[in-house]
Amino acid sequence: MDYLQINGGKKLSGDVIISGAKNSALPIIASTILSNKEIKLTNLPNVVDIRTLLKLLTMLGGEVNHDKTTAIINNSSINNTKAVYEIVSQMRASILVLGPLLARFGECEVSLPGGCAIGQRPIDLHLKALEAMGAKIEIRGGYVRAEAPNGLIGAKIIFDKITVGGTENIIMAASLAKGVTTIINSAREPEVVQLCEMIESAGVKITGIGTSVLTIEGTDGKPLDFKDIEIIPDRIEAGTYLCAGAITNSSITLHRVNYEHIRASVSKLEEMGCSFNIDKDNITINPTEHLKAINLITTEYPGFPTDMQAQFMSVLIMANGESIIEERLFENRFMHVSELNRLGADIWLKGNIAAIRPIDKLYSADVMATDLRASSALVLAGLVADGTTNVHRIYHLDRGYDDLEGKLLKLGADIVRLKK
Ligand code: EPZ
Repeated sequence: MDYLQINGGKKLSGDVIISGAKNSALPIIASTILSNKEIKLTNLPNVVDIRTLLKLLTMLGGEVNHDKTTAIINNSSINNTKAVYEIVSQMRASILVLGPLLARFGECEVSLPGGCAIGQRPIDLHLKALEAMGAKIEIRGGYVRAEAPNGLIGAKIIFDKITVGGTENIIMAASLAKGVTTIINSAREPEVVQLCEMIESAGVKITGIGTSVLTIEGTDGKPLDFKDIEIIPDRIEAGTYLCAGAITNSSITLHRVNYEHIRASVSKLEEMGCSFNIDKDNITINPTEHLKAINLITTEYPGFPTDMQAQFMSVLIMANGESIIEERLFENRFMHVSELNRLGADIWLKGNIAAIRPIDKLYSADVMATDLRASSALVLAGLVADGTTNVHRIYHLDRGYDDLEGKLLKLGADIVRLKK
């Protein structure tokens, strides 16, 4: 199994190009099911999750021509509507095929994703909303079986809780439904916005894009004809490199960034004393010797993202006072705490609140990644730990970071991928 070996203490400098957003690419790949024509996707991140979802499309009978950052997809040949356990168990975002498969084919079976390392992550809100649109749903043998033989019907959906994947599934389902669907309390993440814009560019009338109330006028079963699409920059990857600059007291310039999308992370780093130069789609973080302690609460966009919580925790270990982090989105997203404590951090945890107390230094150790963002938090800590840190189970990292070690190496980190 691969692991990363990092010799801490190196200053970083230079430039890094931010890849396309995994969490935008995934729903966009799923939405290609709504079409029976060829579509080209560019600026895909070269990560395992993208390959997994593309593999699922080919298992359904779609034609996929994929080369690192580009995919040409033609789903006119789909002849199977079952998303099997083998794929969904590898990546729970496969649930995003539920809405489009049901909308286009009137039936489908999708393996029920189980819980995962960051929490239970139920899909009850996806299912309730599809039922409100006329779908008949049952759970049998670990699969969600959904049917709407006469097509889905537009409905008024009020989400009890803001859900990114739930909003995306219903936007896709609604785009082929009969009549108008209104989604109230919808997610407003940039990834949801890009999905709406893609569907809108195929002629579907959508209002309220980027707000918490969306209306979608469906095509009554007519497949969509998409324009080619370039995936937006990954705001979480960008935030992670800003954290790399902050924790190592270095200057790093990020290219191909959408500043609007990373405002919450930038403003928290500013509160810690970091400064930035921003120029169009480039952002430079300047060296900051003394990081100040801060408090942060994870919440939905445009608030501070849960996907940046672990990386900020690593940076806050080096701050000059006690910081508090409250995790509001996922009940179990603190698995990195005990690993960071193994590196000498002093983090106290109770429920969904962590107190990060100041320490003089981190000391290297063998640590184990538990999920995607926890992995990058451990790498960040390894960049400043005294000695050689080995980060194990980096298959989590490979799911969502495009060549993290290559990009860090280019910035001057002493990092190497090894096999055990
Ligand atoms: C998306 O997951 C992202 N994944 C996650 O990124 C991200 O952490 C999360 O949104 C929150 O921003 C992708 O976009 C592929 P949710 P998703 O539905 O859609 C609860 C990463 O590291 N909920 O918005 O699965 C749920 O349990 C990751 O890249 C229900 O209760 O998240 C959670 O507490 C991991 N019932 C909250 O809502 C439902 O039916 C928000 O989850 C659905 C969700």
